[in-house]
Amino acid sequence: MESKVKYFDYPLQFKVYEKEYTGIIWDVLSRGAYILGEDLRKFEESLARFTGSKYAVGVGNCTDALLLALHAAGVGRGDEVITVSHTFVATVEVIKFLGAEPVFVDITDDHNMNVELVKSAITPKTKAIIPAQLNGRICSNMESLVSLAKERGLTIIEDSAQSLGATYKGKGAGTFGLAGCFSFYPAKLLGTFGDAGAVITDSEEFAEKVRMLRNHGRGSGTDINLWGLNCRMDNLHGAILNYKLTLLPGWIKRRREIAGIYNAELSGIKELRLPPGPADNSVHYDVFQNYEIEAEDRNGLVSYLNKNGVEVLLPWGGKAVHQFEALGLSHIHLSRTEELFKKVAMLPMYPELKDEQVQYAAKTIKDFYKGR
Ligand SMILES: Cc1ncc(COP(=O)(O)O)c(C=O)c1O
Repeated sequence: MESKVKYFDYPLQFKVYEKEYTGIIWDVLSRGAYILGEDLRKFEESLARFTGSKYAVGVGNCTDALLLALHAAGVGRGDEVITVSHTFVATVEVIKFLGAEPVFVDITDDHNMNVELVKSAITPKTKAIIPAQLNGRICSNMESLVSLAKERGLTIIEDSAQSLGATYKGKGAGTFGLAGCFSFYPAKLLGTFGDAGAVITDSEEFAEKVRMLRNHGRGSGTDINLWGLNCRMDNLHGAILNYKLTLLPGWIKRRREIAGIYNAELSGIKELRLPPGPADNSVHYDVFQNYEIEAEDRNGLVSYLNKNGVEVLLPWGGKAVHQFEALGLSHIHLSRTEELFKKVAMLPMYPELKDEQVQYAAKTIKDFYKGR
Protein backbone atom coordinates (compact mmCIF):
# COMPACT_ATOMS: atom_id res chain seq x y z
CA MET A 1 0.00 0.00 0.00
CA GLU A 2 1.11 3.55 -0.69
CA SER A 3 2.47 5.32 2.38
CA LYS A 4 -0.10 7.45 4.19
CA VAL A 5 2.17 8.41 7.07
CA LYS A 6 5.86 8.56 6.19
CA TYR A 7 8.47 8.05 8.88
CA PHE A 8 10.44 11.08 7.60
CA ASP A 9 9.50 13.64 5.01
CA TYR A 10 12.63 15.65 4.14
CA PRO A 11 11.26 17.21 0.90
CA LEU A 12 8.15 18.43 2.76
CA GLN A 13 10.26 20.03 5.49
CA PHE A 14 12.34 21.82 2.84
CA LYS A 15 9.26 23.00 0.99
CA VAL A 16 7.70 24.80 3.98
CA TYR A 17 10.62 27.28 4.21
CA GLU A 18 12.05 26.83 0.71
CA LYS A 19 12.35 30.56 -0.01
CA GLU A 20 14.18 31.30 3.23
CA TYR A 21 16.58 28.36 2.84
CA THR A 22 17.46 29.10 -0.78
CA GLY A 23 17.96 32.77 0.14
CA ILE A 24 20.42 31.83 2.89
CA ILE A 25 22.29 29.36 0.67
CA TRP A 26 22.53 31.92 -2.15
CA ASP A 27 23.76 34.59 0.26
CA VAL A 28 26.53 32.39 1.71
CA LEU A 29 27.67 31.09 -1.68
CA SER A 30 27.69 34.54 -3.25
CA ARG A 31 29.96 35.75 -0.42
CA GLY A 32 32.21 32.70 -0.87
CA ALA A 33 32.07 32.21 2.92
CA TYR A 34 32.77 28.50 3.30
CA ILE A 35 35.15 27.73 6.16
CA LEU A 36 35.04 29.06 9.76
CA GLY A 37 33.07 32.13 8.69
CA GLU A 38 30.96 34.70 10.44
CA ASP A 39 27.76 32.64 9.99
CA LEU A 40 29.22 29.76 11.98
CA ARG A 41 30.39 32.15 14.68
CA LYS A 42 26.90 33.64 14.93
CA PHE A 43 25.31 30.20 15.13
CA GLU A 44 27.72 29.21 17.91
CA GLU A 45 26.65 32.30 19.85
CA SER A 46 22.94 31.58 19.30
CA LEU A 47 23.33 27.93 20.26
CA ALA A 48 25.19 28.79 23.47
CA ARG A 49 22.40 31.21 24.36
CA PHE A 50 19.66 28.70 23.49
CA THR A 51 21.20 25.91 25.57
CA GLY A 52 22.10 28.13 28.52
CA SER A 53 25.83 27.42 28.23
CA LYS A 54 28.73 29.85 27.86
CA TYR A 55 30.37 28.43 24.74
CA ALA A 56 29.43 26.37 21.69
CA VAL A 57 31.87 25.01 19.12
CA GLY A 58 30.54 23.84 15.76
CA VAL A 59 32.00 20.57 14.48
CA GLY A 60 31.36 18.18 11.59
CA ASN A 61 28.78 15.98 13.34
CA CYS A 62 27.95 14.68 16.81
CA THR A 63 30.41 11.81 16.47
CA ASP A 64 33.17 14.42 16.10
CA ALA A 65 31.69 16.30 19.05
CA LEU A 66 31.86 13.23 21.29
CA LEU A 67 35.34 12.25 20.08
CA LEU A 68 36.83 15.71 20.57
CA ALA A 69 35.07 16.26 23.91
CA LEU A 70 36.32 12.95 25.34
CA HIS A 71 39.83 13.57 24.00
CA ALA A 72 39.89 17.13 25.35
CA ALA A 73 38.75 15.74 28.72
CA GLY A 74 41.80 13.48 28.73
CA VAL A 75 40.11 10.14 28.04
CA GLY A 76 42.55 7.74 26.43
CA ARG A 77 44.21 4.34 26.45
CA GLY A 78 43.38 2.17 29.45
CA ASP A 79 40.54 4.35 30.74
CA GLU A 80 36.96 3.19 31.23
CA VAL A 81 33.89 5.20 30.28
CA ILE A 82 30.44 4.31 31.64
CA THR A 83 27.53 4.56 29.24
CA VAL A 84 24.47 2.70 27.91
CA SER A 85 23.92 0.22 25.09
CA HIS A 86 20.53 1.66 24.14
CA THR A 87 22.13 4.36 22.03
CA PHE A 88 23.54 4.91 18.56
CA VAL A 89 26.88 3.16 18.05
CA ALA A 90 28.56 6.60 17.82
CA THR A 91 28.37 7.01 21.62
CA VAL A 92 30.45 3.88 22.08
CA GLU A 93 32.70 3.87 18.99
CA VAL A 94 34.37 7.11 20.07
CA ILE A 95 35.35 5.48 23.40
CA LYS A 96 36.91 2.56 21.51
CA PHE A 97 38.62 4.88 19.03
CA LEU A 98 40.42 6.65 21.87
CA GLY A 99 41.71 3.29 23.16
CA ALA A 100 39.41 3.34 26.19
CA GLU A 101 36.84 0.68 27.17
CA PRO A 102 33.08 1.18 27.39
CA VAL A 103 31.38 -0.11 30.55
CA PHE A 104 27.63 -0.48 30.22
CA VAL A 105 24.81 0.09 32.67
CA ASP A 106 21.17 -0.81 32.05
CA ILE A 107 18.25 1.53 31.39
CA THR A 108 15.01 2.32 33.22
CA ASP A 109 11.44 2.17 31.93
CA ASP A 110 11.84 5.59 30.27
CA HIS A 111 14.58 3.99 28.10
CA ASN A 112 17.37 6.21 29.47
CA MET A 113 20.38 5.38 31.66
CA ASN A 114 19.53 4.02 35.10
CA VAL A 115 21.83 6.39 36.96
CA GLU A 116 21.42 4.40 40.19
CA LEU A 117 23.52 1.63 38.60
CA VAL A 118 26.49 3.85 37.80
CA LYS A 119 28.06 3.77 41.27
CA SER A 120 28.67 0.02 41.19
CA ALA A 121 30.12 0.23 37.65
CA ILE A 122 32.91 2.58 38.76
CA THR A 123 36.42 1.08 38.98
CA PRO A 124 39.84 2.69 39.52
CA LYS A 125 40.06 2.98 35.71
CA THR A 126 36.83 4.95 35.26
CA LYS A 127 37.47 8.38 33.81
CA ALA A 128 34.16 9.56 32.42
CA ILE A 129 30.42 8.94 32.17
CA ILE A 130 28.36 9.48 29.02
CA PRO A 131 24.64 9.64 29.77
CA ALA A 132 22.77 9.49 26.46
CA GLN A 133 19.75 11.78 26.64
CA LEU A 134 17.65 9.73 24.25
CA ASN A 135 14.40 10.39 22.42
CA GLY A 136 14.28 14.01 23.58
CA ARG A 137 14.33 13.23 27.30
CA ILE A 138 17.02 13.84 29.91
CA CYS A 139 17.90 10.96 32.27
CA SER A 140 16.04 11.12 35.57
CA ASN A 141 18.06 11.85 38.70
CA MET A 142 20.78 13.73 36.84
CA GLU A 143 21.49 15.55 40.11
CA SER A 144 22.61 12.30 41.77
CA LEU A 145 24.81 11.45 38.75
CA VAL A 146 26.40 14.91 38.92
CA SER A 147 27.14 14.61 42.64
CA LEU A 148 28.50 11.07 42.24
CA ALA A 149 30.81 12.27 39.44
CA LYS A 150 32.00 15.19 41.58
CA GLU A 151 32.64 12.95 44.56
CA ARG A 152 34.68 10.47 42.46
CA GLY A 153 36.44 13.02 40.24
CA LEU A 154 34.79 11.77 37.05
CA THR A 155 33.91 13.80 33.98
CA ILE A 156 30.38 13.84 32.55
CA ILE A 157 30.11 14.31 28.79
CA GLU A 158 26.45 14.26 27.73
CA ASP A 159 25.42 12.70 24.46
CA SER A 160 22.55 15.12 23.87
CA ALA A 161 22.34 14.36 20.14
CA GLN A 162 18.62 13.72 20.52
CA SER A 163 17.65 16.27 23.16
CA LEU A 164 18.32 19.86 22.13
CA GLY A 165 15.82 21.99 24.05
CA ALA A 166 14.87 19.35 26.63
CA THR A 167 15.15 20.28 30.30
CA TYR A 168 15.23 18.45 33.62
CA LYS A 169 14.31 20.50 36.70
CA GLY A 170 14.70 23.56 34.47
CA LYS A 171 18.26 22.74 33.35
CA GLY A 172 18.97 22.22 29.65
CA ALA A 173 20.29 19.11 27.92
CA GLY A 174 24.05 19.22 27.58
CA THR A 175 24.66 21.51 30.58
CA PHE A 176 24.98 19.01 33.43
CA GLY A 177 28.64 18.05 33.05
CA LEU A 178 31.81 19.36 31.46
CA ALA A 179 30.32 19.23 27.96
CA GLY A 180 27.23 18.40 25.92
CA CYS A 181 27.32 17.07 22.36
CA PHE A 182 24.65 17.75 19.73
CA SER A 183 23.82 16.37 16.30
CA PHE A 184 22.30 18.39 13.48
CA TYR A 185 21.83 15.34 11.23
CA PRO A 186 18.82 16.02 8.95
CA ALA A 187 16.32 13.97 10.99
CA LYS A 188 17.27 15.58 14.30
CA LEU A 189 15.20 18.16 16.22
CA LEU A 190 17.41 20.80 14.63
CA GLY A 191 18.68 19.26 11.41
CA THR A 192 20.69 20.75 8.59
CA PHE A 193 20.94 19.64 4.95
CA GLY A 194 23.77 17.21 5.66
CA ASP A 195 26.01 16.56 8.66
CA ALA A 196 26.86 18.95 11.48
CA GLY A 197 27.31 18.87 15.26
CA ALA A 198 28.41 20.95 18.23
CA VAL A 199 30.04 20.79 21.66
CA ILE A 200 28.75 23.09 24.40
CA THR A 201 30.55 23.86 27.65
CA ASP A 202 30.92 26.49 30.38
CA SER A 203 34.69 26.12 30.44
CA GLU A 204 36.59 28.67 28.35
CA GLU A 205 39.74 26.55 28.41
CA PHE A 206 37.88 23.41 27.31
CA ALA A 207 36.05 25.31 24.53
CA GLU A 208 39.36 26.66 23.25
CA LYS A 209 40.86 23.18 23.24
CA VAL A 210 37.93 21.75 21.26
CA ARG A 211 38.15 24.73 18.88
CA MET A 212 41.81 23.90 18.23
CA LEU A 213 41.19 20.16 17.94
CA ARG A 214 38.54 20.68 15.26
CA ASN A 215 40.95 22.78 13.16
CA HIS A 216 44.23 20.82 12.96
CA GLY A 217 45.42 22.13 16.32
CA ARG A 218 45.33 25.78 15.20
CA GLY A 219 44.37 28.69 17.44
CA SER A 220 43.56 32.08 15.96
CA GLY A 221 46.72 32.21 13.84
CA THR A 222 48.57 29.66 11.72
CA ASP A 223 50.57 28.11 14.55
CA ILE A 224 49.85 24.46 15.32
CA ASN A 225 49.41 24.14 19.08
CA LEU A 226 48.52 20.45 19.42
CA TRP A 227 47.72 17.35 17.37
CA GLY A 228 44.27 17.93 15.95
CA LEU A 229 41.97 16.88 13.15
CA ASN A 230 39.69 18.49 10.60
CA CYS A 231 36.27 18.35 12.27
CA ARG A 232 34.95 21.80 11.34
CA MET A 233 31.29 22.57 10.79
CA ASP A 234 30.81 24.11 7.32
CA ASN A 235 29.96 27.79 7.46
CA LEU A 236 27.00 27.08 5.16
CA HIS A 237 25.52 24.72 7.77
CA GLY A 238 26.12 27.38 10.42
CA ALA A 239 24.04 29.87 8.39
CA ILE A 240 21.21 27.39 7.80
CA LEU A 241 21.17 26.27 11.42
CA ASN A 242 21.20 29.82 12.75
CA TYR A 243 17.94 30.43 10.86
CA LYS A 244 16.44 27.05 11.76
CA LEU A 245 17.19 27.62 15.45
CA THR A 246 14.62 30.45 15.40
CA LEU A 247 12.02 27.87 14.25
CA LEU A 248 12.98 25.22 16.80
CA PRO A 249 10.69 26.35 19.68
CA GLY A 250 7.67 26.07 17.35
CA TRP A 251 8.81 22.65 16.12
CA ILE A 252 9.25 21.42 19.70
CA LYS A 253 5.78 22.66 20.59
CA ARG A 254 4.36 20.69 17.64
CA ARG A 255 6.29 17.53 18.58
CA ARG A 256 4.84 17.76 22.09
CA GLU A 257 1.33 18.16 20.65
CA ILE A 258 1.82 15.06 18.51
CA ALA A 259 3.09 13.11 21.51
CA GLY A 260 -0.02 14.29 23.40
CA ILE A 261 -2.26 12.87 20.66
CA TYR A 262 -0.45 9.51 20.64
CA ASN A 263 -0.64 9.31 24.44
CA ALA A 264 -4.34 10.18 24.55
CA GLU A 265 -5.25 7.76 21.76
CA LEU A 266 -3.09 4.81 22.83
CA SER A 267 -3.07 4.94 26.62
CA GLY A 268 -5.79 2.32 27.06
CA ILE A 269 -4.02 -0.45 25.13
CA LYS A 270 -2.62 -2.97 27.59
CA GLU A 271 -0.20 -4.45 25.05
CA LEU A 272 1.70 -1.15 24.79
CA ARG A 273 4.09 0.74 27.02
CA LEU A 274 4.13 4.41 25.99
CA PRO A 275 6.75 7.05 26.74
CA PRO A 276 5.85 9.52 29.48
CA GLY A 277 3.51 12.06 27.84
CA PRO A 278 4.25 15.78 27.64
CA ALA A 279 2.05 16.52 30.65
CA ASP A 280 3.22 13.56 32.72
CA ASN A 281 5.95 14.94 34.87
CA SER A 282 6.70 18.52 35.78
CA VAL A 283 10.44 17.89 36.34
CA HIS A 284 10.94 16.76 32.72
CA TYR A 285 10.35 18.92 29.68
CA ASP A 286 10.66 16.36 26.88
CA VAL A 287 11.12 17.39 23.26
CA PHE A 288 10.21 14.08 21.56
CA GLN A 289 12.98 13.56 19.05
CA ASN A 290 11.34 10.13 18.75
CA TYR A 291 8.15 8.55 20.02
CA GLU A 292 9.46 5.18 21.15
CA ILE A 293 7.00 2.52 22.33
CA GLU A 294 7.22 -1.05 23.58
CA ALA A 295 4.68 -3.36 21.98
CA GLU A 296 3.60 -6.97 22.47
CA ASP A 297 3.80 -8.85 19.16
CA ARG A 298 5.94 -6.01 17.86
CA ASN A 299 6.75 -7.69 14.54
CA GLY A 300 3.05 -8.36 13.89
CA LEU A 301 2.25 -4.73 14.68
CA VAL A 302 5.01 -3.39 12.41
CA SER A 303 3.87 -5.45 9.43
CA TYR A 304 0.21 -4.51 10.04
CA LEU A 305 1.16 -0.82 10.15
CA ASN A 306 3.27 -1.11 6.99
CA LYS A 307 0.44 -2.93 5.22
CA ASN A 308 -1.86 -0.05 6.12
CA GLY A 309 0.47 2.71 4.98
CA VAL A 310 2.08 3.73 8.30
CA GLU A 311 5.88 3.69 8.30
CA VAL A 312 7.58 2.82 11.58
CA LEU A 313 11.22 2.32 12.42
CA LEU A 314 13.14 0.06 14.77
CA PRO A 315 15.89 2.07 16.44
CA TRP A 316 19.27 1.30 14.86
CA GLY A 317 17.79 -1.54 12.87
CA GLY A 318 16.49 -3.24 16.03
CA LYS A 319 19.72 -3.85 17.98
CA ALA A 320 21.35 -2.31 21.03
CA VAL A 321 25.07 -1.60 20.58
CA HIS A 322 26.22 -4.74 22.46
CA GLN A 323 24.00 -6.90 20.20
CA PHE A 324 26.03 -6.20 17.04
CA GLU A 325 28.16 -9.36 16.94
CA ALA A 326 31.07 -7.84 15.00
CA LEU A 327 31.73 -5.39 17.84
CA GLY A 328 32.82 -8.15 20.24
CA LEU A 329 30.48 -7.17 23.06
CA SER A 330 28.28 -10.31 23.04
CA HIS A 331 29.43 -11.25 26.57
CA ILE A 332 27.53 -8.23 27.93
CA HIS A 333 24.04 -8.76 29.36
CA LEU A 334 21.64 -5.94 30.11
CA SER A 335 18.25 -7.41 30.87
CA ARG A 336 16.08 -4.27 30.59
CA THR A 337 17.85 -3.15 27.40
CA GLU A 338 17.44 -6.60 25.83
CA GLU A 339 13.76 -6.76 26.84
CA LEU A 340 13.26 -3.34 25.22
CA PHE A 341 14.79 -4.41 21.91
CA LYS A 342 12.35 -7.35 21.65
CA LYS A 343 9.44 -4.91 21.79
CA VAL A 344 10.66 -1.53 20.62
CA ALA A 345 9.31 0.52 17.69
CA MET A 346 9.30 4.22 16.84
CA LEU A 347 6.18 5.91 15.49
CA PRO A 348 6.28 8.81 12.99
CA MET A 349 7.23 12.03 14.81
CA TYR A 350 8.06 15.30 13.03
CA PRO A 351 6.51 18.76 13.15
CA GLU A 352 4.99 18.65 9.64
CA LEU A 353 2.73 15.67 10.51
CA LYS A 354 -0.95 16.57 10.36
CA ASP A 355 -3.30 15.68 13.24
CA GLU A 356 -5.25 13.38 10.87
CA GLN A 357 -2.08 11.43 10.07
CA VAL A 358 -1.23 10.98 13.74
CA GLN A 359 -4.80 9.90 14.45
CA TYR A 360 -4.73 7.48 11.51
CA ALA A 361 -1.49 5.91 12.80
CA ALA A 362 -3.02 5.59 16.29
CA LYS A 363 -6.27 4.14 14.92
CA THR A 364 -4.34 1.55 12.91
CA ILE A 365 -2.53 0.48 16.07
CA LYS A 366 -5.86 0.24 17.95
CA ASP A 367 -7.34 -1.86 15.13
CA PHE A 368 -4.39 -4.26 15.36
CA TYR A 369 -4.93 -4.94 19.07
CA LYS A 370 -8.76 -4.88 18.97
CA GLY A 371 -10.41 -8.04 20.23
CA ARG A 372 -7.27 -9.60 21.69
C1 LIG B 1 22.33 9.28 20.52
C2 LIG B 1 23.19 9.66 19.35
N1 LIG B 1 24.50 9.88 19.53
C3 LIG B 1 25.29 10.24 18.52
C4 LIG B 1 24.80 10.38 17.24
C5 LIG B 1 25.74 10.71 16.14
O1 LIG B 1 25.41 11.90 15.50
P1 LIG B 1 26.01 12.27 14.09
O2 LIG B 1 25.29 11.48 13.06
O3 LIG B 1 25.76 13.76 13.97
O4 LIG B 1 27.47 11.97 14.12
C6 LIG B 1 23.44 10.20 17.01
C7 LIG B 1 22.89 10.36 15.65
O5 LIG B 1 22.11 9.61 15.15
C8 LIG B 1 22.61 9.80 18.08
O6 LIG B 1 21.30 9.58 17.90
